[in-house]
Amino acid sequence: MNLSSKIEGQLPAELVKFMRVAGEVAHSQGESLYLVGGVVRDLLLGQTNLDLDLVVEGNAINLAQQLIPVTQGKITTHPRFNTAKLQWNKWSVDLATARSETYVKPGALPSVKPSSIDSDLFRRDFTINAMAIHLNPSRYGELIDRYGGKDDLEHKLIRVLHEKSFTDDATRILRGLRYEQRLDFQLEPATLQLLKRDIPMLDTISGDRIRHELELILREKYPEKVLRRGEELNVLQRLHPGLKGNRWLAEKFEQARQLYSPTLPPLGLYLTLLAYPLTNEENELLISRLRLPKTLAQTLRDAISIKAKLQPLANPELNPSNIYHLLHGYSSLAITTNSLAGDSPVARQRLQLFVDKLRYIKPALTGDDLKRMGIPPGPRIKEILHLLHEAKLDGKVASKQNEEDLVRGWLADNMTT
Ligand code: CTP
Repeated sequence: MNLSSKIEGQLPAELVKFMRVAGEVAHSQGESLYLVGGVVRDLLLGQTNLDLDLVVEGNAINLAQQLIPVTQGKITTHPRFNTAKLQWNKWSVDLATARSETYVKPGALPSVKPSSIDSDLFRRDFTINAMAIHLNPSRYGELIDRYGGKDDLEHKLIRVLHEKSFTDDATRILRGLRYEQRLDFQLEPATLQLLKRDIPMLDTISGDRIRHELELILREKYPEKVLRRGEELNVLQRLHPGLKGNRWLAEKFEQARQLYSPTLPPLGLYLTLLAYPLTNEENELLISRLRLPKTLAQTLRDAISIKAKLQPLANPELNPSNIYHLLHGYSSLAITTNSLAGDSPVARQRLQLFVDKLRYIKPALTGDDLKRMGIPPGPRIKEILHLLHEAKLDGKVASKQNEEDLVRGWLADNMTT
């Protein structure tokens, strides 16, 4: 099968031209160059994917260096893996040397050695991701499909290439669910059995790698679908026993999208909503399992601490300055999480008021202004600024002039007492 017309039809002309030239350069030095992985899958599906992954039976870094004059862009190389990245204009292309992999220990990164394209494709996660397209001029556009990827695409199946795939790399369990739900495919029955068998192998994967896979899930259009399937298959529970991919979460994710539309909600918001039902202790376990970076960990902690403030926040007597004092200091993402996830509508409205408005309110007068008005430097300045802040939050002053009048009033009162 030849896919050159699909390539021309679906990829931008600049990338097509680049691939043609790259194929010619590879050919001129007796090497073979291929387009591989997700982009081949998506070309066959008619879906946009501009992440080009190229594999050369030869030397990727050498080839990338020869292509610099073509792109006139930037090159980044990783000699240890013999890979390179070319970046120019808005494009980015990864180039790797065809390699085979041996997994010495489950979950650990594999040891690799240069190989043919067939072995390079065989080391991959699923048949639909294990196809290539020849880019050398004489065979340009030819589909290389040794493992039945096209057939599986047509039958909407996610299938591993061999029985040890999930044992070698249990992140593929999460990847499998992601592709299944994204493409609306099914895990092929034997693959599903292997996946279930190998769920305990998730314990062999480092926090960083699990976090990375979770981020990829949260970048999907509907992450809740993947999480629901993860719960159904007991995958989510293996990452952390308290995680749920239920209807509540789906509703909250949908509300988060509406809140941020037309852009996408930050990943941190999705993650915080996922962690929201956890207790403090369970949350700490999640933070360490995922090795969350400090700021994100604090956002999760804040979101859970704010839960305890929802009841006081629902008190009808509160004025804006009280709301401000209950919430200031917390991460705004954690507050937004509670405004989406909290039970009380009044509390939720007040959280939103804080995020949209109260947190930005500051008095117009500064410490210097107060000094100019004759207040000596010292703790009094701080105290007056605090009172001014509260007055402004509660709508008692609307202009700088109002603030000055108020301060003068206080000073006069003080002088008389
Ligand atoms: N791959 C793999 N096993 C992994 C990760 C990646 O076999 N654990 C292979 C697959 O062939 C995949 C390719 O490396 O297609 C590129 O990986 P990645 O960029 O993560 O996947 P894509 O399919 O390109 O992108 P996406 O998942 O977003 O569709």
